[in-house]
Amino acid sequence: MKQQIIPFFSLPFVKIILAHPITSDGPQKCILRPILLKGQTVYQSEIFQNNQAFHKNMPADEAILYVENLLTTHFKEIYILLKQENWQGTVKNNRLILKKRPFTGERHQNMNHNRSKKYLIEEGTPVPALIELGIMDKNGRIYPTQRDKFIQINQFLNVFDQALNTCNPHKELIIWDLCCGKSYLTFILDYFLSVLRHRTARFIGVDLKPAVIQTCTQIRQKLKRDNLTFICGNVQTVSLPQKADIVVSLHACDTATAAVIKRGIQSGASAILAVPCCHKEVSKNIASSELDFMLGYGLLKERFAALVTDALRARFLENNGYKTDVLEFVNFENSPKNIMIRAFKTNQTIAHDLTKTAARFHIHPTILKND
Ligand SMILES: C[S@@+](CC[C@H](N)C(=O)[O-])C[C@H]1O[C@@H](n2cnc3c(N)ncnc32)[C@H](O)[C@@H]1O
Repeated sequence: MKQQIIPFFSLPFVKIILAHPITSDGPQKCILRPILLKGQTVYQSEIFQNNQAFHKNMPADEAILYVENLLTTHFKEIYILLKQENWQGTVKNNRLILKKRPFTGERHQNMNHNRSKKYLIEEGTPVPALIELGIMDKNGRIYPTQRDKFIQINQFLNVFDQALNTCNPHKELIIWDLCCGKSYLTFILDYFLSVLRHRTARFIGVDLKPAVIQTCTQIRQKLKRDNLTFICGNVQTVSLPQKADIVVSLHACDTATAAVIKRGIQSGASAILAVPCCHKEVSKNIASSELDFMLGYGLLKERFAALVTDALRARFLENNGYKTDVLEFVNFENSPKNIMIRAFKTNQTIAHDLTKTAARFHIHPTILKND
């Protein structure tokens, strides 16, 4: 049997399915597919038993024996799906009878480790703070209404993880979460740094609302996370005890994102990661004779105002010594407010004439106002 299976492992097969179990109490189905892990091809089996899926990665020689073993002990059928061919095999009297089956077309070989999105914190991993915040249950299962939030903070984590490289790896990190609200970000970043990255960090969360600050403080006390501090105040003016290494902000309302960016620059943060929320400030006034044809539509005017506002914020960061880009940190369906302004301190300034640009559109946004 092994000799019949081996040749398929030198072809670009898409997947092997083992089906038709011999007994009803063993595994019901197994899918094996090649994946790339750290640049090496390995074979991932997904085996289904008792309504659960179990995964295992293995090199080719082990995978061949694995398939042979399952065919002799558990399954009667094998389907081998190649990029341009189908093969079907049946086990009879301990012999595998393989036949080529008709197939037209071409399959795509997806060698991503996980077909579903890979997150730094996977569903099924109970994170105490996320349980307290009502994102997941005690088994780590995400509540359906909280899935988008979970994805947002997880994707934020990905970008944050890259930003960590800008900081001294031996120093205790100081992180500001500005306009923190219920502080999903602070709590997940704290878990990520302490449990997954073994880094020490202090967090300072700031929000205008006393009630959310009180809730965050209670959760911090319950979880005994003394490295988290929550302060009630306006990000524009609040006095913060320590300078930030990284400033994060998720969906700070309207002009608050501009204040976040300015505070980050003043603090000399190595990285500023800000996801703006609504953009009401300039949408009433924005105008341009060249763009009349577009700005006559209220919806397009609003969207354009948001883009101009964020572009000015990003350029402002460049003027102040930050290498900046603008990215979609999460899919639109998880949040329509999915633009992130990401800035890393380089001290190389660019002299954009932003006042002139703003004047062209008859606007005077907070990012350009003198405090
Ligand atoms: C849309 S919520 C987002 C909260 C949180 N970052 C999240 O993603 O769940 C925006 C938060 O910003 C806070 N906020 C707005 N303007 C602020 C300001 N100038 N200073 C401090 N907090 C502010 C609000 O109180 C609110 O809690």
